[in-house]
Amino acid sequence: MPAPPAKPKVLVTSRLPSVALEPLWQTCDVDYRDEPGPIAREAFLARVQSIDGLVCQLSDKIDAELINAAPSLRVVSDVSVGYNNLDVTALKQRGIIATNTPDVLTDATADLTLGLILGITRRLVEGDRLIRRGGWKSGFGLDFMLGTELKGKRLGIIGMGRIGQAVARRAVAFGMTIAYAPSPRAGAAKDQRTQFDGFNATPVIFDELLTSSDIISIHVPLTAETRHLIDQKRLARMKRSAYLINVARGPVVDEAALAWALTEGVISGAGLDVFEEEPKVHADLLTLENVMLVPHLGSATRETRTKMAQLAVNNCLSVLMGKPPLTPIPEMKLESTRQ
Ligand code: GLV
Repeated sequence: MPAPPAKPKVLVTSRLPSVALEPLWQTCDVDYRDEPGPIAREAFLARVQSIDGLVCQLSDKIDAELINAAPSLRVVSDVSVGYNNLDVTALKQRGIIATNTPDVLTDATADLTLGLILGITRRLVEGDRLIRRGGWKSGFGLDFMLGTELKGKRLGIIGMGRIGQAVARRAVAFGMTIAYAPSPRAGAAKDQRTQFDGFNATPVIFDELLTSSDIISIHVPLTAETRHLIDQKRLARMKRSAYLINVARGPVVDEAALAWALTEGVISGAGLDVFEEEPKVHADLLTLENVMLVPHLGSATRETRTKMAQLAVNNCLSVLMGKPPLTPIPEMKLESTRQ
């Protein structure tokens, strides 16, 4: 009897919900690192040497060095929608398919965005801190800790993709109007679309989005073009009464410039789920009351994280079984449908 074909080898770099791992155990030879948090680089390089598939997370850097250390690697399946941890050029050169987890986290991320918007405009965390340190001495006061109402205010969306639209839809229910900048580059907006599923939005040039929005919410991926998209100059273009929300990627905002803007009252407040050098946070932000800080929890619900892990595992398995991936990263969509 000929020996059965060898099972494909897969490395899973960090703990995943067991329901998501189930199909992998059945069909693959799995090297499972049953620990939370990032894998140490040396161990990572050593453990990819004979793998065919990799299920990794945002904190795992998949660069040329790692790809070279994995000569039989065929698929990199990121358990995240943003994939700035992947060197897409190096992956393409080697013909390795890369996948991410879009759609399944849209609602959870949009919910968290609204949480940040409400939290910072109504000073919820600031109030919580005040009570806990015994600072609430006066009881109810008509002019005490006043915030800002959402009704009638303009929400400016940077990045009107799936998550941006889901945020806009929710904001409309709070009585907000929506603007968006189809391109961060200066000049007229090419995309003049005003109707979206469930809401209308006004396309404006980027500078108008900055100067006219009461709240600006960022939903773009991190690329060379979007790194420090919001810098000191652009913060200074915002209304003094405005708030900035970032649930996308930390480096889209110049954190030092933001700390300056919040300290100097250049803008009113900010709600941040992501940071330039996670888990580090700019020291000045830690001392300010007008910023709400959340440790990268955009998609962090049990339901969503399970769906992300399941999608990532299914992507990996699909490729290893010779089928197209379910959700290849956008740069690989054409290639994978051609296969
Ligand atoms: C999380 O930040 C993700 O991109 O999924």
